[in-house]
Amino acid sequence: MLVLGIESSAHTFGVGIVEGGKVLSNEKSMYDIGTTGMIPKKVAEHHVQNSNSIVRAALENAGVGLEDVEGIGYTKGPGIGNCLQVGQIVAKTLAQKLNVPIVPVNHGVGHIEIGRLKSGLKDPIVLYVSGGNSQILKISSKPERHYRILGETFDIGIGNMLDNFARAIKLNPAWGSSVEKHALGGRYLSMPYTVKGMDFSFTGLLTHSIKQIGKHSVKDICFSLQETAFSMLCEATERAMLLTSSSELCVCGGVAQNARLKEMLKYVAEEHRAKIGYAANEFNADNGAMIAFVAERMLDGGCRTRLSDCTIEQRYRVDQAQIY
Ligand code: FE2
Repeated sequence: MLVLGIESSAHTFGVGIVEGGKVLSNEKSMYDIGTTGMIPKKVAEHHVQNSNSIVRAALENAGVGLEDVEGIGYTKGPGIGNCLQVGQIVAKTLAQKLNVPIVPVNHGVGHIEIGRLKSGLKDPIVLYVSGGNSQILKISSKPERHYRILGETFDIGIGNMLDNFARAIKLNPAWGSSVEKHALGGRYLSMPYTVKGMDFSFTGLLTHSIKQIGKHSVKDICFSLQETAFSMLCEATERAMLLTSSSELCVCGGVAQNARLKEMLKYVAEEHRAKIGYAANEFNADNGAMIAFVAERMLDGGCRTRLSDCTIEQRYRVDQAQIY
């Protein structure tokens, strides 16, 4: 089934085309945050302005026409309301025009499932790390097949924490990826470390790091912030692997693009003779292909949603979504 998927939950308007589980194209336009971060109304305007050209580019690169599309998927949530709405409207308009089925997709399930596909892992412990989410999960078949959350952040997602710090210290662009660049070669400063079982908290670490601005070098604070936050994730993930006797670890989501995090997790996996896997950065960043991929599985599995039930949900949790 040839499925077009639309992602618009935050800074990225992405469109992907998938057929038989194979990604045919994956196009996107990303809002430029500069040093100010995301202003929801402006990000939504960016999505409106770019939606047509990205849909067209995805079709062209896949070598198909609009009339070839057999199903539509879009991100239902979680995400920023104004931004989700743009993808929802484009998806519903296309589904109605083409008279094809449409399904709402959970953004987190998109990240996890494309990570699982690309890593070739069957039933891994999943560390899902992005702007709004930081969770440790595993597939559960009861009461229906879904991702059960074993551990998660008590407050903000790790990506959100890194972006917040990048803004506070005025990095340009104010993304966590700028923190990663500045962390290279830094020295370790003592930082607050909060892990409780398989849950963790980032706000104390963020507040403390912001208080160090001006007292220590940018390099040393960035390095210490990353090392501490990633160590917390490693400890909680290792505990989840031991408790579930899991021999596979999949890391996914926007922060899975960070090379240092993957290096640290590799040590954890090696320690337990477990396999570690992840998708290429293109699929860990927000993208439309992951939505199309999950939508195709949902449609193939018989999932059908009436147009009037194609809603958005800003706090749509991963464990609320059935997986196919
Ligand atoms: Fe994401």
